[in-house]
Amino acid sequence: MCGILGYLGLRNGTPIVHEGLKALAYRGYDSWGMAVHQDSHITVQKGIGDISKTEPLALHSNRVIGHTRWATHGSVTEANAHPHANMDKTICAVHNGIIENYAELKAELQKNGFVFASQTDTEVIPHLIDFYMRQGKTFEQAFKATLERLEGSYAILATHANEAGIFFAKNGSPLVLGLGQNEYFVSSDIPSFLPHTKTLVHLEDGDYGAITNTVTIYNKDKKIDRQPSTAHWDVEVAKKGNYPHFMIKEVNEQPLTIRKALNQPKELIKQTALLLQNASTVFLVGCGTSYNACATATYQFSKSGKQTIAVLGSEFSQQIPFIDKKTAIIAVSQSGETADIIDAVKASKEKGAVVIGICNVPSSTLARMVDVVIPMNSGPELCVLATKSCTSTLAILYMLAFALRGKDTSVLTEAADAALHVLKQHQQTMPELAKKIANAQNIFAIGRGALSQVAREAALKIKEVSYIHAEGMPAGELKHGSIALIEQGTPVIVFADDETRAFSTSNAMEVKARGAFVIGVDSKPSPAYDFHIQIPALDDATPLLALLPVQLLGYYLALERGCDPDKPRNLAKSVTVR
Ligand code: AGP
Repeated sequence: MCGILGYLGLRNGTPIVHEGLKALAYRGYDSWGMAVHQDSHITVQKGIGDISKTEPLALHSNRVIGHTRWATHGSVTEANAHPHANMDKTICAVHNGIIENYAELKAELQKNGFVFASQTDTEVIPHLIDFYMRQGKTFEQAFKATLERLEGSYAILATHANEAGIFFAKNGSPLVLGLGQNEYFVSSDIPSFLPHTKTLVHLEDGDYGAITNTVTIYNKDKKIDRQPSTAHWDVEVAKKGNYPHFMIKEVNEQPLTIRKALNQPKELIKQTALLLQNASTVFLVGCGTSYNACATATYQFSKSGKQTIAVLGSEFSQQIPFIDKKTAIIAVSQSGETADIIDAVKASKEKGAVVIGICNVPSSTLARMVDVVIPMNSGPELCVLATKSCTSTLAILYMLAFALRGKDTSVLTEAADAALHVLKQHQQTMPELAKKIANAQNIFAIGRGALSQVAREAALKIKEVSYIHAEGMPAGELKHGSIALIEQGTPVIVFADDETRAFSTSNAMEVKARGAFVIGVDSKPSPAYDFHIQIPALDDATPLLALLPVQLLGYYLALERGCDPDKPRNLAKSVTVR
């Protein structure tokens, strides 16, 4: 996924880019690197792991490019860290995305005597530019010729020791320009330059160009103008405040963020509900937590007499033959940059479907490509784990489903109020439970109806933050295989409400009979529960509340096991590769 950033201006870009990469680290923290230009000399600094605990070189430079990595090709080593250079170190490049035809290009370059220093796909870029410059092309012409050879997704920054400027190109990966006073930024995301300017220019697929003493943008060989816009967020909201981690801060923001998610223009919800009503088929598409929210909401749409189909973004292609002008798509993505969702939306629009986007980044690719956008209003979510964006998504999808059956949203507002109490209550109990089960090999989560999907989300949170294998599934499925994994002490989280308690607690008794440690998330106690997590009964809104204690459990399990709740290993906040 990676994050890239370039600075050109009158100030010292070295600390500016180093600090900016820290703000991009949620996109990948396997390694990082910078190319610092001084006259015609380039100094490259690289590091393994998270940049947040490092210092920049004490080198003054007004032209710097940098990168923070999520490894796709080649292991986590300094050699594979970006920036990558050509053989005489006069050309440097950083890249976010995947060059799909890199192996073929690498073989061709090696045949021409080029020697590679890394296992990455990206390294073909500086060598290819060098290859074309050796044929007499200027750096600009060689950069352009290189782009014409690349297949796949990319956001690229490239520089030459003896040529002015930073050259950039975008195809499928996000890239945005920041316009400052006598300085320019080009980056994967806005937070990297937000402390310096709020004036930005979004680049589109196919855009390439250069920052010199001005910005020049081309697309399909035509010089183009892209209108500047203004960033919505300020730096303060992207800080931890008094919290030790973004995760616990964002979990505790939910009483407010659920309210903000519900605070949508009435007309927008009414018109969107009408679009759904009139659609012959409605698909809800998302990845990870966004998918789990979609799958949970299908139960509310069914209650409104509207069949909806939840589809994983990476498996959406199966549905494309069934999409036409009468189809409505609800595409959910916190970041608005998840590649599989962008692809699903592109394919749906080509088939004439109406696409509604639920997204938390107003300036993201998704928000700018859909027909109707409903903002999550959660504020920046900087922890890699999606928490507040999940309950915001659920609140919005439930609001749409309720609108289809003329039900008001009072129970959802009640959920926002009750969330404060639930979080307060279980901030006391979850550390104790985490201590009890921190050494578990496996954890299971079960539920019925909408709570079967809440169980999926609970397992995802526990897996990605504590590295304990966890599986969430419909309670009725347990007896068809997974119950074989239940041993003495195996924790099983059971989500139940008035509608599902009878069956779900008998499933709980079945695993208890095999020695499981049963944790009940329920408004009522039950003899089946060895540990009861009490939540208020809130009818249709129960799933919003049931998620809160397990988010806390995940957090305290991470602390118990010495894991970083904000930057779990091998993950990144937005998945911009397929
Ligand atoms: C959830 O905690 C994960 N970070 C991940 O599953 C995430 O939900 C998924 O990558 C989708 O991200 P998006 O909502 O930004 O598209």
